[in-house]
Amino acid sequence: MVYQFCALTYGENFFKFWKRESHMWRTSLGLPINSCCITTAFRWWSKDTVAIVTGANKGIGFALVKRFAELGLSVVLTARDNTRGLEAVQSLMVQGLHVHFFRLDVTDPSSIKTFISWFREKFQALDILMR
Ligand SMILES: NC(=O)c1ccc[n+]([C@@H]2O[C@H](COP(=O)([O-])OP(=O)(O)OC[C@H]3O[C@@H](n4cnc5c(N)ncnc54)[C@H](OP(=O)(O)O)[C@@H]3O)[C@@H](O)[C@H]2O)c1
Repeated sequence: MVYQFCALTYGENFFKFWKRESHMWRTSLGLPINSCCITTAFRWWSKDTVAIVTGANKGIGFALVKRFAELGLSVVLTARDNTRGLEAVQSLMVQGLHVHFFRLDVTDPSSIKTFISWFREKFQALDILMR
């Protein structure tokens, strides 16, 4: 999972790093070089992969939403403030990225409950939760 997360976040550069490290370790351990090779063709996510990122109208959360959307996952951007959340969604839309939005204050149980109801109606499953 750590490798998957790194790959998703760092893309091509991670794969280059992984290949170099993997080659070095395999050589030093006497393992066949090609017995398990991750290539850039390796993709475990698709548009059916659903990610929720909370507190995502700015900062790390926003950057993650953007990256997930660029990679083609279905992403739910949540923010505790409706206006700030919608502005964040709008800034992605002008870059050609589509994400779902729902207001969510992670410290408010009723907000969490409302969000879960909405999410269950809209999606079959949850694959990634970034909080
Ligand atoms: N930046 C770093 O280098 C770094 C490194 C390690 C760890 N971290 C940790 O990673 C987290 C995010 O960092 P960041 O730099 O992305 O922070 P940030 O730019 O301040 O963004 C924080 C986000 O969380 C949202 N938020 C705060 N309380 C919330 C609540 N109750 N419900 C929903 N959303 C809420 C904020 O929304 P509002 O806009 O409404 O306030 C904002 O969108 C922090 O916990 C930080 O300590 C950051």
